[in-house]
Amino acid sequence: MKNIRIIALILAVLMVITTFAVFPSCTVKPGGGSGEKGAEIDNYQEGGAYMNADFSRILLTEAEIAGKVREIAGRIDRDYENRQPLMVGILKGSFIFMADLVRAMKTPCAVDFMAVSSYGKGSVSTGAVRILKDLDTSIEGKDVILVEDILDSGLTLSYIIDLMARSKPSSVRICTLLDKPERRKVPISADYPGFGIPDEFVVGYGLDYAEKYRNLPYIAVLSPHIYNS
Ligand code: XMP
Ligand code: MG
Repeated sequence: MKNIRIIALILAVLMVITTFAVFPSCTVKPGGGSGEKGAEIDNYQEGGAYMNADFSRILLTEAEIAGKVREIAGRIDRDYENRQPLMVGILKGSFIFMADLVRAMKTPCAVDFMAVSSYGKGSVSTGAVRILKDLDTSIEGKDVILVEDILDSGLTLSYIIDLMARSKPSSVRICTLLDKPERRKVPISADYPGFGIPDEFVVGYGLDYAEKYRNLPYIAVLSPHIYNS
């Protein structure tokens, strides 16, 4: 009986050793994911190597942004009681703000998107606005809320508002997460402004530089050496 137990124990130990020898990838690595993708995500963390190289500083943290999104959603809820606004996100920069905003709102709403030409690879606006993707739905008689990532010169939104006026919406209001008032070239202001920010190029939370940094959960000031080089 004792021998059988010893043999069973030896067999169990051998099975465990064989399993780890055949399936080494089953072992769990500690910390931040596995492989290259995990390393890349780790680099996006606040205080990580990526930040030190590319950003001057964090301008707005995840918590600050979340608080502002709740505040704006509350204001829209109060203003649009018994109405169903059409939220129009201006792609691509507004996609994360839009997703968080509509989820923070209690008001039922419809959602659509427009894509317009932006800065491309540079950090200075050309002023040229081109519609790359138009709305899928008619805005006639609707209460439209334009959702922007940032109001800068104002050229993009004033162009879109002029264009929309021809389709006879019931109302058009502007909601922007960020606002650089000192950069304005046309007289336009947001009905729902988020943060007023200084004239520095910012990235993250949907905003890009050459299609990079959109997936940062916070907003950072881009180091000038990135766009000057
Ligand atoms: P305008 O000048 O028409 O521009 O008001 C609005 C668009 O310009 C882009 N923009 C920025 N994008 N960091 C960015 O990533 C910035 O600091 C910045 N400033 C302006 C943005 O696409 C916005 O929709
Ligand atoms: Mg952009």
